Amino acid sequence: MRKSLSSSTLLLLLSVSPGFAAVSGDIAAGKVKAPMCAGCHGAKGIGVSAEFPNLAGQKAGYLSKQLRAFRDGSRVEPTMKAMASTLSDADIANLAAYFSSLERSPMAVAGTAPAVTGQPTAKEFPQTTFITMKKSGTVETFPDEIVWPGGANMLYDAVTPDGSRLLATSPSSNTVTVFDTASGGQLAVIPVGKAPKGVKVTPDGRFAWVSNQGSGDLSVIDLVSLKVIDTIRVEAGPHNARFTRDGKLAYVTLQGGAGLAVVDTATRKMIRVIPIPGITGPHNLDLSQDEKTAFVRDFVHHVAVLDIASGKVRKVITVGNGHGGIDVFPDGRYAVTAAIGDDVVTVIDTQTLETRDIKVGNGPHGVRASRDGRWIYVTLTKDNQVVVIDADTLQVVKRIEVGKFPFWVALPGNP
Ligand code: HEC
Repeated sequence: MRKSLSSSTLLLLLSVSPGFAAVSGDIAAGKVKAPMCAGCHGAKGIGVSAEFPNLAGQKAGYLSKQLRAFRDGSRVEPTMKAMASTLSDADIANLAAYFSSLERSPMAVAGTAPAVTGQPTAKEFPQTTFITMKKSGTVETFPDEIVWPGGANMLYDAVTPDGSRLLATSPSSNTVTVFDTASGGQLAVIPVGKAPKGVKVTPDGRFAWVSNQGSGDLSVIDLVSLKVIDTIRVEAGPHNARFTRDGKLAYVTLQGGAGLAVVDTATRKMIRVIPIPGITGPHNLDLSQDEKTAFVRDFVHHVAVLDIASGKVRKVITVGNGHGGIDVFPDGRYAVTAAIGDDVVTVIDTQTLETRDIKVGNGPHGVRASRDGRWIYVTLTKDNQVVVIDADTLQVVKRIEVGKFPFWVALPGNP
């Protein structure tokens, strides 16, 4: 009995020893071989779909052991047996070293863990952040959680670059309310066009542009006189705008379906419309950091990645159901979009256009990253919560109970 045990132990040791001998593989040599694995395990070791496991960041010893097991048939899987039988012991050690050295991307491990409800702190809210509560008709500030009375239907909001003024649209009363952010007091309630939705402030802080979805035009508010000084005709259903950093152009989503309006801010005239085939009702948008690409979120469940100069749609990405906001991080790393009919936000890698869904809770609509790109804020219109996601780990780290139907997020530094 004793004898047979020790001989089988010896056999086991002998059978695995060649692998152990070759355990310190050569990363560079592994990299040369790795393209033959990319079709399934991805160019960076993140499996291209659910049936292909991630290899990036896995322990080298484990990877070698699995490859040898596929090769000798002790782990049965026909595809991997075919792959592994072409590999020498040295190849295996090198591939294991290479995949082990790759970063285990946060995109690959995006979280679903429910986070504990808690109070907002200055850690997650390094800038004062203003969130509209549509059904409470209020604006709530974070991290201090001060509630300002607004008016019926506080919908979209925007803050001036210096942080001194906040504007919020009220589509049911066709007005925009201007708040003094130091006191929370109302400076004006300004009549605009019909069914105002998005509001954005020009980069120089002098004007606010309001997208009047019902009247097919934009109201230009002078932020000194607090009066509408111009109205710009576009096409049906303007929903929200985004200015270029130099303030020369505004891109406006035309939810009526025409596409993206390009408006010259000096002449205040629409100069063209870029059609966006493949999506239904352009709703919200943001620009890549180089401002050459528009990420356009539609009313249904798509994001179009649009090359602005050529007008070509590079890709239509399917995201969560329903309409929602979209935000490109100030550092350009991710675009993240919400989906009001769903329970996820979708994070899009702006380089690879790979996506990950993060479960957040019910009815996400507003979404914005902090200026430093460290945190993502999401409003849950059905759960009446604001969720904070750690952008490095893509895990929900906090849920904050708020007023009714939290809708949109505004903060200085991420227009
Ligand atoms: C045609 C698709 C395909 C290719 C190409 C491919 N693999 Fe795989 N690989 C798979 C599948 C499928 C599995 C999961 C097997 C299972 O379910 O047991 C897998 C599993 C693995 C595992 C086990 C992972 C774990 O967590 O247990 C390793 C290691 C691995 N593959 C390495 C490689 C390497 C290295 C290459 C390139 C030399 C490669 N694979 C090429 C399809 C592929």
